[in-house]
Amino acid sequence: MTAVLKVDPLLVSFEGLQTVIPVSKTLTHLKRAAELLRQNQVVAFPTETVYGLGASCLNQAAVESIYRAKNRPADNPLIIHVASREMLEEKLLATAMSPKIPPIYDALLEAFWPGPLTILLPLPPNSPIAPACTQGQTSFAVRVPSSPIARALIALSDLPLAAPSANTSSKPSCTTAAHVFEDMNGRIPLILDGGSTKLGLESTVIDGLVSPPVILRPGGISREKIVEIGGTNWKDVRISGQVPSCTIPRAPGMKYRHYAPHAPVILCAPNARDALRAYLSQQTSIVRDGKIALLSFDNLQKALLHDIVPDAQIIEIKLGNDLSSVAHNLFSCLRSADAAGAQIIIVEAVPMEHEGLAIMNRLKKAAQLYISTDHI
Ligand code: TXA
Ligand code: MG
Repeated sequence: MTAVLKVDPLLVSFEGLQTVIPVSKTLTHLKRAAELLRQNQVVAFPTETVYGLGASCLNQAAVESIYRAKNRPADNPLIIHVASREMLEEKLLATAMSPKIPPIYDALLEAFWPGPLTILLPLPPNSPIAPACTQGQTSFAVRVPSSPIARALIALSDLPLAAPSANTSSKPSCTTAAHVFEDMNGRIPLILDGGSTKLGLESTVIDGLVSPPVILRPGGISREKIVEIGGTNWKDVRISGQVPSCTIPRAPGMKYRHYAPHAPVILCAPNARDALRAYLSQQTSIVRDGKIALLSFDNLQKALLHDIVPDAQIIEIKLGNDLSSVAHNLFSCLRSADAAGAQIIIVEAVPMEHEGLAIMNRLKKAAQLYISTDHI
């Protein structure tokens, strides 16, 4: 059985690089978690993006335990979390010959650290980072989370922590301790419960080691902000791994499924109502008496589905009124749809700007089908 211990982010403050926490349950629980991390065990903890599954990045066996706990494919490297830029330099870049942080990142780190921005750095020769973190890459990924709990935990353990999202691989990431418990009960010793995470989607991963630089994964810092703050180096930033829109089901065996709840997800553009109608009319068992979850944003309403499938039970779950609340709620809504017993989950597509880029990146990976237009 996995222990769940509450921590209150409001009790944690920082004076310079010093963590200040009054004597409290929060302090005791953070110390307990730090002690487990010092023993090379795995602890789940909140960050401002999603919950992470952390262990010392300096210990190979500890990092391997993370992969085991979440069933993660061994070729997917992990992000390292540090409490400050100073900690990064001291613990991971201190060897005499090692490269420093390339200046292309300066303005972005100044503006967005601590925060949901992950950068790639060259892996120094003789790096203390366990090979399981980087999986043969010549770079490593690192960020300074802004969540007070995450930073305090890193500071108290005095360890840089490798931490992927705390979900079982292929499932939606976890934005509450209850979701982590659902996936990790019995698999790790401890979950720190610091409430629901602020942003709800993972950090933006950027690669400034190539020219032009690339956004490897859209996330908490938007492309627009990177272009605005990053200066001339970032004005032509590319976005990698864009999943093309298509109106046909995905070929089976696409490498990994990601962010996916149990029930199949159908992503539907708000203006593709006729194509949605055509698709649902082929799903006869659901049309007759099934349960459909509708995760709606602005345009796809319950009434429309009632009109198309009058006998189905439709559970409408509002994603939010603006893009940042959709980002905050998305993973939790996907899990709620499963919990409500939906046989199919229809999700309204959102515009691909600001938070929408990251939202659509996750949804396109979660979906089995993207109905993006009426013109098939
Ligand atoms: O917000 C977040 O980033 C959360 C919280 C816990 O901090 N963590 C997270 O980790 O999302 P994870 O493991 O679920 O995603 C890490 C992403 C993956 O897409 C991985 O391929 C990429 O970062 N990554 C890590 N190291 C890399 C490297 N050296 N080169 C390229 N991509 C890398
Ligand atoms: Mg993940």
